Amino acid sequence: MPIPTVNQQDQKAYIQESSQKHPQEQLEIEFVRITKVSLSAFRNYTYEQLTFQEPFVLLSGCNGAGKTNILEALSYLAPGKGLRRASLSHIIQAGKEGPQQPWAVTTSVLYSHKGKETDRILSSGLDPHLFLKGKEKRVGRIDGEDIKNLNDFEQHLSLFWLTPDIDRLFKESPGVRRKFLDKLIMRWEPAAQQYWQTYENALRQRMFLLKTRKDDDVWLYQLEKLMVESGMAILHERMQYVSLLSQTSQEQFEIFPKIEFHLKGMLEDMLVSQSYIQVEAIFYEKLKETREKDAIQGMTTVGPHTTNFQALYTPKGIYAEQCSTGEVKMLLLALVLTAARLESWRQGRTPLMLLDEGMSHLDKTRRQALGEELLSLGVQTFMTSTDEEVFSPIFSHAARFCVKENRVKRI
Ligand SMILES: Nc1ncnc2c1ncn2[C@@H]1O[C@H](COP(=O)(O)OP(=O)(O)OP(=O)(O)O)[C@@H](O)[C@H]1O
Ligand SMILES: [Mg+2]
Repeated sequence: MPIPTVNQQDQKAYIQESSQKHPQEQLEIEFVRITKVSLSAFRNYTYEQLTFQEPFVLLSGCNGAGKTNILEALSYLAPGKGLRRASLSHIIQAGKEGPQQPWAVTTSVLYSHKGKETDRILSSGLDPHLFLKGKEKRVGRIDGEDIKNLNDFEQHLSLFWLTPDIDRLFKESPGVRRKFLDKLIMRWEPAAQQYWQTYENALRQRMFLLKTRKDDDVWLYQLEKLMVESGMAILHERMQYVSLLSQTSQEQFEIFPKIEFHLKGMLEDMLVSQSYIQVEAIFYEKLKETREKDAIQGMTTVGPHTTNFQALYTPKGIYAEQCSTGEVKMLLLALVLTAARLESWRQGRTPLMLLDEGMSHLDKTRRQALGEELLSLGVQTFMTSTDEEVFSPIFSHAARFCVKENRVKRI
């Protein structure tokens, strides 16, 4: 498998060119906004409908009122397991009289491009026919037509979300952070998924072989060859994306901290002073050298599956692990906002942001800065809070809703 041929210079030039464009010239970007959301039989909602036009949609109310449930419903307008990674049956409205209903979420989406507007209806929910037979499968519809694959949503809508669970990202093990980063990279460069698939397969097979037939040198060599080729491609993708993130965050933010993202690992450290070819050769050697040790330990010592992804909070020169709660929140928001900016340049279309408790832990200046950053990105943002007041810096651009007793009312 060859090292990916993405031309780093071209990509940097493209990004630089895009970032320097005057806002008026950014008309090339298609702006996407949801204007209506309907939920039925979705968790605490029997039926609820919200309409709005604004770039911010703010949901406030007491604990357990149903704010996050609305963000979760929107997260089903994308492939995957949703914002809570909940099982489909848990979403079915419980505690209601009468027979259970299949849940559904329907949205009207408005696309503005070069002064022209079009709209589309995107919906998702449990397949009603299978539901009658006692089976649960999530399906999607676009403009009333069933879609064959939930991935088709990606052609019409992109979503980024942050939940309080993710606030712990920089306190988690490196594996959790790596996965978070790799998901962003695969969004950025979907073709790169094959490198991860090849690498993980070869990694598993090598370990199995080390435990069962560790003298099979030929087979081990073949698997290690696959690991090195796909592993070097992963390193390349990660380094390229992380450098784009750092560069874009440096150019993008004023009040928000300019973040430096770093990759730490044996191979990455060597790439600072040695060429790809040299590091590739060392990777081969290391795999061969550590066969015995890996077999005993039951884990592979070297490779991109050991990399640590770190964020440096540049205003203080400290890594995320040493940052305060609010500083970590800023780091995470900076990371997601930067990824969203890159994606909107790449796709020529703005994504949508779902920020559950998005302003918590931020002081007033930073809440204001977050609002300004989101507005400058041109994205529509859905945010929740138990305290409406935290949204005051962005009230003038917002549709405000109060969530109470399983109902949502516009304020
Ligand atoms: N399947 C279900 N059927 C009915 N109600 C449900 C279901 N699942 C969850 N709920 C209700 O939803 C509530 C949680 O809603 P949600 O997480 O949206 O609250 P929230 O407003 O975000 O609260 P917080 O401020 O604490 O984050 C639960 O307390 C429960 O009452
Ligand atoms: Mg919540």
